[in-house]
Amino acid sequence: MNALYSTDGHYIHPSILNADFMRIGEELDRIATADAIHADVMDDHFVPNLTFGPSMIEQIVRRSDLPVDAHLMIEDADRRAPAYAEAGASSVTFHLEAAKAPIRLARELRRRNVAVGVGLRPATPVEPLLDVIGEFDMLLIMTVEPGFGGQSFLETMLPKIRRARRAVSEANLEVSIQVDGGVSRETIERCADAGANVFVAGSAIYRAQDAADEIAVLRDLAGQHRHS
Ligand code: DX5
Ligand code: ZN
Repeated sequence: MNALYSTDGHYIHPSILNADFMRIGEELDRIATADAIHADVMDDHFVPNLTFGPSMIEQIVRRSDLPVDAHLMIEDADRRAPAYAEAGASSVTFHLEAAKAPIRLARELRRRNVAVGVGLRPATPVEPLLDVIGEFDMLLIMTVEPGFGGQSFLETMLPKIRRARRAVSEANLEVSIQVDGGVSRETIERCADAGANVFVAGSAIYRAQDAADEIAVLRDLAGQHRHS
């Protein structure tokens, strides 16, 4: 089992998308108390935005003691995702919409000893995935349309989180449920209550005066509403 984030715990993953890339070393230091660094890889095709590739992941891995959670918003995941495992990411999440053979890809990534996540855009239903969810360590339910930080949380994703958590618990599987997009002090409790246990927050943490304090507040709020 490659589960990096135990399903008994809850984890805060700051997204560096909203960090100042000119001062990335210091920006990583600001989030040293987090559980992992969420790195958003965008290719200007799967989403209308462009960030960085495997060499940046490699540099972040070298610079920080935290695990790196690579979120690939890229087309042709089957061919391109393994490079992110090779770059040293601890978990690699690809989008279901961008993979032709998601199970083959998940197995290929697991062989490279990374935790494997599968991501769903807001309009992609979770049900078709439920029969094969045990192939993954993490299910990412996007709570905004992927592509940009600072968008508002889609409340309509809460029933989807709840259904996914119910299916995972009923099947007795160790699969984490990650939420990404618009997660903040205002929304994290509802996500936790619905069954999410890995929380990505970009602007909420990087726009805070004190990022460590914001991480602590988010962790505490999520912990109080932990799904059991
Ligand atoms: C959006 C990215 C997110 C983004 C979240 O497509 O996947 O990780 O950085 O940013 P906030 O928390 O500001 O919505
Ligand atoms: Zn992300």
